[in-house]
Amino acid sequence: MEYKILLVLHLLGSSVWVGGHLILAITILPRALKLHDPEILHQFESRYEKIGIPALVLQVATGLRLVYYYNDNLFDVFDFAYSQHTFIALKIILLLVTVIIAAHARIRLISKLKEENMVFLAWHIITITILGVAILFFGAGIRIGNW
Ligand code: HEM
Repeated sequence: MEYKILLVLHLLGSSVWVGGHLILAITILPRALKLHDPEILHQFESRYEKIGIPALVLQVATGLRLVYYYNDNLFDVFDFAYSQHTFIALKIILLLVTVIIAAHARIRLISKLKEENMVFLAWHIITITILGVAILFFGAGIRIGNW
């Protein structure tokens, strides 16, 4: 029962984090770039981060707990010995890259967003979205095995 709840919460977090970034990258961002209007991004970010950040925290908390259904020790996955280990290790590495890029975007770019640095922010958004989809893909691979 605990496993099922964890998995559902993990998938819920995944829907919010990856889904939110896909909406941002595919619909909001092109509009903001076309109209040269950073305010469009600002409005979306300020509303989305209230649910997006808790979703990511939920992902990490449930994800770390789920790892222990497959391994006795989290660090075992870094031996890359089986596809399951490889997928979990890649998820952790890509998550750390995501956190660094997201923190840089939040602290350095969004707080003083101007038209001149919108393209730089756009690359951050696109990269975080691709990383999110990749982490989701590797997550599905843990159960499915080799693609
Ligand atoms: C943006 C972050 C993340 C996303 C979008 C994500 C997404 C997913 C998805 C879609 C699955 C497939 C679930 C299924 O097969 O039904 C999954 C599984 C899994 N994820 Fe994540 N995940 C994220 C972060 C993490 C983190 C940080 C960890 C911890 C290392 C983690 C560990 C796992 C594990 C162990 C599974 C296998 C669950 C199972 O099928 O039994 N995930 N993830």
